[in-house]
Amino acid sequence: MASELTKLILPWKVRLLISLLSTLADTSRRSNATINRRLFNLADRQSLPNPTPVDGVSSSDVTVDPARNLWFRLFVPSSSSATTLPVFVYFHGGAFAFFSAASTPYDAVCRLYCRSLNAVVISVNYRLAPEHRYPSQYDDGFDVLKFIDRNGSVLPDVADVTKCFLAGDSAGANLAHHVAVRVSKEKLQRTNIIGLVSVQPYFGGEERTKSEIQLNRAPIISVDRTDWHWKVFLPNGSDRDHEAVNVSGPNAVDISGLDYPNTIVFMGGFDPLRDWQRKYYEWLRESGKEVELVDYPNTFHAFYFFSELPETSLFVYDVKEFMAKQMANVN
Ligand SMILES: *[C@@H]1O[C@H](CO)[C@@H](O)[C@H](O)[C@H]1NC(C)=O
Ligand SMILES: *[C@@H]1O[C@H](CO)[C@@H](O)[C@H](O)[C@H]1NC(C)=O
Ligand SMILES: *[C@@H]1O[C@H](CO)[C@@H](O)[C@H](O)[C@H]1NC(C)=O
Ligand SMILES: *[C@@H]1O[C@H](CO)[C@@H](O)[C@H](O)[C@H]1NC(C)=O
Repeated sequence: MASELTKLILPWKVRLLISLLSTLADTSRRSNATINRRLFNLADRQSLPNPTPVDGVSSSDVTVDPARNLWFRLFVPSSSSATTLPVFVYFHGGAFAFFSAASTPYDAVCRLYCRSLNAVVISVNYRLAPEHRYPSQYDDGFDVLKFIDRNGSVLPDVADVTKCFLAGDSAGANLAHHVAVRVSKEKLQRTNIIGLVSVQPYFGGEERTKSEIQLNRAPIISVDRTDWHWKVFLPNGSDRDHEAVNVSGPNAVDISGLDYPNTIVFMGGFDPLRDWQRKYYEWLRESGKEVELVDYPNTFHAFYFFSELPETSLFVYDVKEFMAKQMANVN
């Protein structure tokens, strides 16, 4: 079990940024179940795509469906000598309600993935709640996969969709899970999902877990915050034991017969959601899936926003190892 919160040691700059971001998110949440977008956007800095390579990565935006503003940011390693590269489809976090593929922290983290994992990265810009509730986000995620499956020419020639990974952090990891389930039911033509990278997935349930209670004052998320976000994400009248939230709970989809990708789940010692993440891991195992669990004791929810933290380097290294293993399996 995680130690007390006072033991979380962080650089002052990281503490300050976390507290600013949390305050802005808290102030943007209105009691009438809407978000003050104008206010939150003040904190949500944006980065433009850049076709000129910077630190070995170039980027561009690709439209999938203008009617619902569905697009993705494509990151390509500019100096790789490999003849084929894996495709890393990424879903950003933010409780299904905040951020976009253009948000500066996500643009930066996707550049890091592209460069360090030597992969073509597709960062999906899905619709947000509460303006768009469940299952809009899952539909958008699956539709982007269908789009790249059928329209291979939008990706550079080195992108090998037979070596495709799904990945996401927080709500993005929830999304990646549900998209993985859909892909294994509906099948794509060319694309083969060979792994799932689940970074501090955002799951929950009606029950209050020990970690939710003990770590309720941890940075970024708390029970009050997640309760509010689940409420404005789920269909009216649903509770948190909905299969989107309590994935391994009473309404769970049986995945034991599905061709679900091999998975790596990352947890942090100071993440209130860690008990749910462990349940997810155990449920995947009980369902006969191949899954690894990685726990970094001295870190919090959304640590990867901060490249200066040692866990961020460790994390990228662990993802790289996982990917290499999956690619060796298919070769
Ligand atoms: C919610 O409250 C805000 C600010 O008070 C108001 O501008 C907005 O129209 C309200 N929205 C709904 C759906 O009630
Ligand atoms: C492929 O791209 C075309 C043109 O952008 C689009 O109309 C079509 O829907 C795409 N196919 C899929 C399966 O998304
Ligand atoms: C769900 O509830 C919200 C607020 O209570 C309301 O604005 C919205 O119209 C409802 N949606 C449906 C589909 O009933
Ligand atoms: C949520 O799912 C878990 C299984 O992972 C189950 O033990 C729990 O009872 C569920 N929550 C509720 C309130 O039913």
